[in-house]
Amino acid sequence: MADNFYITTPIYYVNDEPHIGHAYTTIAADVIARFNRLLGRDTFFLTGTDEHGQKLQDTAASRGMEPGAYCDEIVKRFIDIWDKLNISNNDFIRTTQERHKKVVQHILQKLYDEEEIYKGSYEGWYCKYEERFWTEKDLVEGNCPDCGRPVNRIVEENYFFKMGQRREWLIDYIKAHPDFIRPEFRANEVIGYLNQGLADLCISRPKTRLSWGIELPFDKDYVCYVWFDALLNYVTAPGYLDNPGNFQKWWPEAIHLIGKDILTTHAVYWPCMLNAAGLPMPKTIFAHGWWLMEDTKMSKSLGNVVRPLDLADVYGVDPFRYFLMREMTMGHDSSYSEEAFINRYNSDLANDFGNLVSRLTKMIASYCGKKLPAPDEKQEADLEIERNAVNLNEKVVGLIDDFKIYMAIEETLQLVRLLNRYIENNRPWQLAKQGDIKRLGTVLYTACEGLRIAGRFLYPVMPAKIAEFSQTFGIGVDTLKSEESLKWGFLKPGIDINVSSGLFPRIEQKKKPAVEPEKKKTKEEKEEFIDFEDFKKLKLKTALIEEAEKIEGADKLLKLQVNLGSEKRQVVAGIAQHYTPEQLVGKTIIVIANLKPAKIRGVESNGMLMAAKDKNGLRLLTVDGEIKPGSGIS
Ligand code: ME8
Ligand code: MG
Repeated sequence: MADNFYITTPIYYVNDEPHIGHAYTTIAADVIARFNRLLGRDTFFLTGTDEHGQKLQDTAASRGMEPGAYCDEIVKRFIDIWDKLNISNNDFIRTTQERHKKVVQHILQKLYDEEEIYKGSYEGWYCKYEERFWTEKDLVEGNCPDCGRPVNRIVEENYFFKMGQRREWLIDYIKAHPDFIRPEFRANEVIGYLNQGLADLCISRPKTRLSWGIELPFDKDYVCYVWFDALLNYVTAPGYLDNPGNFQKWWPEAIHLIGKDILTTHAVYWPCMLNAAGLPMPKTIFAHGWWLMEDTKMSKSLGNVVRPLDLADVYGVDPFRYFLMREMTMGHDSSYSEEAFINRYNSDLANDFGNLVSRLTKMIASYCGKKLPAPDEKQEADLEIERNAVNLNEKVVGLIDDFKIYMAIEETLQLVRLLNRYIENNRPWQLAKQGDIKRLGTVLYTACEGLRIAGRFLYPVMPAKIAEFSQTFGIGVDTLKSEESLKWGFLKPGIDINVSSGLFPRIEQKKKPAVEPEKKKTKEEKEEFIDFEDFKKLKLKTALIEEAEKIEGADKLLKLQVNLGSEKRQVVAGIAQHYTPEQLVGKTIIVIANLKPAKIRGVESNGMLMAAKDKNGLRLLTVDGEIKPGSGIS
């Protein structure tokens, strides 16, 4: 294993609210990064945000904001949450940063010059939520196969990247490098996908449709497709353009930790892009499973999202990190429930670990005057603890290098449970009663050393709690993390031991969860406020009805000729069952003057009148007194 270690998370869409799924990937990357630093490997841990694309442009517009200013405002949600969850990333990349734009344009120009990019005509279905194009056969009941939302038919001139010709090369590469796509069943999925054929990739969007993106350096009428832009973040941050030395150091070691939803973009598009750019492949793409809520994927559009900070706020950041890491078999799906959280917390943290810390330190306080006793002659039971503690390092390193965080934790907890049994079997309280000071010293010393080593391996998962724990032995967390601290016998007899009883207090299982998922909003709750700017878009005017007549063959419609002061207009309205033509002429009503003209039953309508409706019928909006036709309404 090289001494340099580089790990990335996906760069999350900045306009999504961070939830437990984002927290999972980021905490897992953090735990792996912290383990690698513990091993003395030089580590670079990257996360960030994906800020271009249609969705962002639309959301910013709906808030009446410039997309850039909107990103600057909402990116804080991600920065803050990673700060609160104690994420130790070394860099935070935003795709709107200048350093990134430079890299994207450089690669685009390079591929264009080398004829890896060409102009062609595109026809297909586009899902703006997933920012993906789909072919007819991809669609599920006419909707986006990923999110189930409606797609739009699009025909336009675009630029294409020659991805298709790399199909066989990629299949061979994946087969020859078993570490490239993990877990193994995901590699098989990708090969299955490639076996169906591989088309070229459309990498541009005309500015007439989307302007929020990185401009193509060779055609200013287009911006870069958001995924082509986003994937390049992984080479921007280590310094592809502005720090080649640094780039050489990190790039070939790259490990991309992602969710299974974005496997194709990472395992197909990205390798082809790198190959075309003449860059080596990342070492590993690891796709983990989904957090489910009652067996369905947790996602904002389904309205079953658990906000990570809610759980962390109620029960603490480290227990939350522990639960996510211990509960999910990395690579497979897991179901979230608060009940599972409390069970896991109580059994592992309160009972097994916390209890051991508190029992042991209390015994040392009462039998040994708060001083760590010296060990005497070792028996087999003591040697068993020592062996297990010393061997833990190798086991844990192997498991972490294999992405089995949950098993590394389990190995550590097994040592903790062994220590609990050791204390039960060796009964220090009886040794104290009998005055067997030598044996008492050996047992308490052995248990303390075992516990200290177990705690060290929980540090990457629970950095703050383990820093607190290290105070038990009067050492700082840096000392606990040091390489010497791996050795048996690191703690010197005679040092002060501090009683620690409140590390992980038990949680009572509640009848009603303290943290409920956000429910999908009902139609009424969803009604959002609009800005004055939005309101101003409506041009409301007073209009005098000058003529009204029935429309042949449409018993609900009336055709009105209205006077808007400076102009006359024809408006078609569905009011024939509520008003006769005679009742209408002479009335001053309110019309939306800037509604797009439409044909209703073949009759042209230029504007819409306003009316209120209840179960008894419909009444037109009029004005309270005389006013000139065409007066503006505000
Ligand atoms: O796809 N369970 O960003 P994104 C587990 N911008 N993990 C989950 C999850 C769940 N229910 N929901 C989300 C994008 N995730 C692109 C990435 S990278 C060059 C561009 C995690 O905001 C998981 O890691 O939709 C998933 O891959 C990621 O969030 C998707 O984040
Ligand atoms: Mg997504």
